[in-house]
Amino acid sequence: MKLLEIQSSARQQGSISRLLSQEFIATWKTYHPAIAHKQRDVGSQPPAHVTELWTKANYLAPEERSSEMIAVLQESENLIEELLWADYLLLGVPMYNFSVPSALKAYLDNIVRINRTFTFDPQSYSFQGMVINKKVLVITPSAGDFTPGTPLETMNFCETYLRSQISFIGIIVINQSEFSLSTQDQNLLLEQFMMAWDYL
Ligand SMILES: Cc1cc2nc3c(=O)[nH]c(=O)nc-3n(C[C@H](O)[C@H](O)[C@H](O)COP(=O)(O)O)c2cc1C
Repeated sequence: MKLLEIQSSARQQGSISRLLSQEFIATWKTYHPAIAHKQRDVGSQPPAHVTELWTKANYLAPEERSSEMIAVLQESENLIEELLWADYLLLGVPMYNFSVPSALKAYLDNIVRINRTFTFDPQSYSFQGMVINKKVLVITPSAGDFTPGTPLETMNFCETYLRSQISFIGIIVINQSEFSLSTQDQNLLLEQFMMAWDYL
């Protein structure tokens, strides 16, 4: 079992998404002690933003890339290899201004790449994700309440964006725990997380 934990909160101290992830992983490891676990901390070490050279390199076949292009894509290649390595993904994603943290967006720009994580068929104009067979848990705390029927109900672009973007590359979210800090009990959340992974 291989777990990749991706954290995107800018905070180390007092971060709810990091704390819940840590507690969940510690508990989960008691059931699966042999697990290999890597952490990708984009919150404290964001990947480079894409650049003009990066963009050119991305759309060229590997054998057509210059050494500069190969170098500029190296971080993206490493991130993709790491993602493909995992069979369990845990994403800590706080809502920032109704969407995902920009550090996570930079990460996504690096891993969503044609012929690396998705394919495109021009005949049928269809896209196919290549990052398949992963079990995914997403922990998305927010200060506000976005449950249906509340005033902010239509403003949760964090959940909708993330779910759409990662399913585009084949990652189907099996459990997403969105919660408003004021309305959820932490122990109850941890129990829900355990159930999400243990029953699948
Ligand atoms: C830059 C920034 C923007 C935020 N924007 C929102 C927001 O749009 N809606 C919301 O409900 N909470 C917002 N929050 C609150 C966070 O989602 C909340 O504090 C969450 O717990 C942060 O995750 P963390 O505890 O793991 O650091 C924002 C916090 C920060 C730092």
